[in-house]
Amino acid sequence: MSKSSLNIVILAAGKGTRMYSSIPKVLHKLAGMPMISHVVNAAKRLDPNRICVVYGHGGEAVPAALGSDELSFALQEPQLGTGHAVQTAIPHLEGTGSALILYGDVPLIKTSTLEKMLGKPDCLTLLTVELENPKGYGRILRDDMGKIERIVEEKDAAPGEKAIREVNTGIMAAPVEMLKSWVAQLRNDNAQQEYYLTDIVEMAVRDGIPVQSVQPDDVREVRGVNDRSQLAELERAFQSERARELMKKGVGLADPARIDIRGSLDCGMDVYIDINCLFEGEVKLGNKVRIGAHSVLRNAEIQDGTEVAPFSHIEGAVIAKNCRIGPYARIRPGTVLGEEAHVGNFVEIKNSRVGNKSKANHLSYIGDADIGKNVNIGAGTITCNYDGANKHMTLIEDDAFIGSDTQLVAPVTVGKGATIGAGSTITRNTPQGGLTLSRSKQVHVEHWKRPVKKG
Ligand code: UD1
Ligand code: CA
Repeated sequence: MSKSSLNIVILAAGKGTRMYSSIPKVLHKLAGMPMISHVVNAAKRLDPNRICVVYGHGGEAVPAALGSDELSFALQEPQLGTGHAVQTAIPHLEGTGSALILYGDVPLIKTSTLEKMLGKPDCLTLLTVELENPKGYGRILRDDMGKIERIVEEKDAAPGEKAIREVNTGIMAAPVEMLKSWVAQLRNDNAQQEYYLTDIVEMAVRDGIPVQSVQPDDVREVRGVNDRSQLAELERAFQSERARELMKKGVGLADPARIDIRGSLDCGMDVYIDINCLFEGEVKLGNKVRIGAHSVLRNAEIQDGTEVAPFSHIEGAVIAKNCRIGPYARIRPGTVLGEEAHVGNFVEIKNSRVGNKSKANHLSYIGDADIGKNVNIGAGTITCNYDGANKHMTLIEDDAFIGSDTQLVAPVTVGKGATIGAGSTITRNTPQGGLTLSRSKQVHVEHWKRPVKKG
């Protein structure tokens, strides 16, 4: 399909009453992204000339959420049916090729299915499926030869027609010129007094335009979202497919039903992901990376051989090879860890560089710090980076040893190889090597008695 010949219309004006929400239905999220954005992305992969989104309910929220990039918007107000929605989009369509109608609330549609539909551009092509329970859908009526004659909506169907199990998914493709002329002829003399897009099927038959049907590989592709439980079902369907794709590429998953990917997850060889992990934004895992249970990773790169123990949160960070992270580590944006660094439980690191083989194993806050290699950060160490107005840097040079429960009041530098005695508050730069401490001397009070509770 060449770029100049395809127009795509995405219908998204409906109210979504059953979501019980102030947010337009199509903006509810699937895998961290508005469901309509999944449809827009599938549409963009077809490289169309135009994508027109028909919106109505929820006002400008839909255009605002999608942005104008490569899209045009048609306001349908009031909403008088799917045929009326397409009429609204007509002024936005151009050229003489195919027009493809998609739905903002049918988010799992695959580009490969749409490509199949666009194979015969001179036809009216309907995407249909056979359902065990076709209730609520428009039924596909065929003649004795199996040729499609028309679509009848559930509310207009005779009892015999209701028994038909082949249904209209709503998704269809037609030559744009024919579509324009057909939707202009629609009438609303039906049970719902709506302009039904489905009535164009009869017009195609009348005009001698062949009507064909195409089926998706998986019925889930054409499932619509009307309420929150359908949205949750599609979320699980989407996630289980992502899990299957990962396993096919060699990623080990403790349980494919307990992983969530809201963005992209790129994995090397022999990666293993334990249960209930969440990946958001762009996450990259190198070879032999292991992610412990209940970890959350957002926009992060974890290089070869690193192990992340359970309940760790990593965001906006690059973690080099063979590090040990967690359990219960929190690594925040702007952090870069060198090779073989260790970050243990209840350690928070923000906007800091940590050199190779340096360790902060317990209970620390490291913010706005530049830490060299082979540094040991004792338990309870805190960089006091904030003076109430500004943030300041802490520099810790190679081979330093920071005793437990030390406060480093930034801006401050700990020299190469320096040792800081436990319990110190360091407010001035310390020299290289040697021992620096700032705690008061230990005293012993002889004959001291504990207070006694008064009768
Ligand atoms: C429609 C089809 C039906 C099909 C079913 C599949 C028609 C007449 N019927 O029925 O054959 O089996 O979808 O789910 O087309 N919309 C607008 N503006 C409107 C009305 C609808 O943008 O004025 C959008 C909605 O936001 C929704 C989609 O079109 O995304 C379908 O609308 P809906 O009312 O759900 O159509 P159905 O009655 O289910
Ligand atoms: Ca519907």
